[in-house]
Amino acid sequence: MQSYSLLAPAKINLYLEIIGDRPDGYHELAMILQSIALADRIDLRANGTDQIRVHCDDPQVPADDSNLAYRAAALMATQFPDAYNRYGGVDITLHKHIPMGAGLAGGSTDAAAVLVGVDLLWKLGLTQTEIQELAAQLGSDIPFCVTGGTAIATGRGEKLAPLPSLDRLHAVLAKYHSIGVSTAWAYKTYRQQFHDSYVTDPSTLLDRSRRVHARAIVEAIMQHDNHCIGQLLHNDLERVVFPAYPSVAHLKQTLMQFYPLGVMMSGSGSTVFALVETAEQAYHLQQQLRQAISDPDLGIWTTQLIAHGVQLMHS
Ligand code: C5P
Repeated sequence: MQSYSLLAPAKINLYLEIIGDRPDGYHELAMILQSIALADRIDLRANGTDQIRVHCDDPQVPADDSNLAYRAAALMATQFPDAYNRYGGVDITLHKHIPMGAGLAGGSTDAAAVLVGVDLLWKLGLTQTEIQELAAQLGSDIPFCVTGGTAIATGRGEKLAPLPSLDRLHAVLAKYHSIGVSTAWAYKTYRQQFHDSYVTDPSTLLDRSRRVHARAIVEAIMQHDNHCIGQLLHNDLERVVFPAYPSVAHLKQTLMQFYPLGVMMSGSGSTVFALVETAEQAYHLQQQLRQAISDPDLGIWTTQLIAHGVQLMHS
């Protein structure tokens, strides 16, 4: 039976600005998304039955139809019934390395890998754009996970424009294992608390100072100005996550004491990342953080920024 192994990289948010409400109930966003080397491995195998089955090496990950990886395969079966009938069901095995509830798109990138893998398994020959259109039906950041790299994301997060690669930079990620933040909770709380600041008239958008801030970090990325990039990192969701989870705010303060290029919470948290210029600096910062906070509940990873999303490892 044919099988494929894919690499599904995590992402961090270098910039996340909440602009306002959308008629579909989501938020209009302006983000800069960045792939990192920390990745899950996804194995896909035609199983000769009519079933989609998910297996995972982490017992905390649900292996039922609530898993985004399952839903990605089910979407492919609905969209391409002839291929599904011809090639049959799929066994999906998730080898998890990306923490959950972390703001690193762990579930989203697994789903992106399943879309890419099922396209190969069923010999559909879809274009990247077609795969991204399917991805947008499953979740806001899944289209980015397909192509990855460095990109501006607008709309719900699904409208993408590539930026020059930052793959020479490194990052230290820190997350308390016991603290996971629900993305839906973070956006709902933000709406409750900061709705008054939402932009309702799109013509005023360009006048707002924070949009200038967004343009400034895009400019810094274009110029490969690492110090500017570090200073211009931004995430509106820190305003709701930090008061609710003071230890995450403290984590950011602690990392800042060691003067990396910049420190920011990723997505809806609870991961906080610090950007540095070399692998040695990342390793050193990891040691410094471990000494400053010796709590065994704190997970610390070093990783590199990368220029790609889902990748085929071997078939
Ligand atoms: O699209 P996704 O399912 O990943 O989003 C998770 C939740 O985050 C949504 O249910 C919604 O509450 C919130 N969200 C939002 N606006 C966005 C993206 C996500 O309000 N642009």
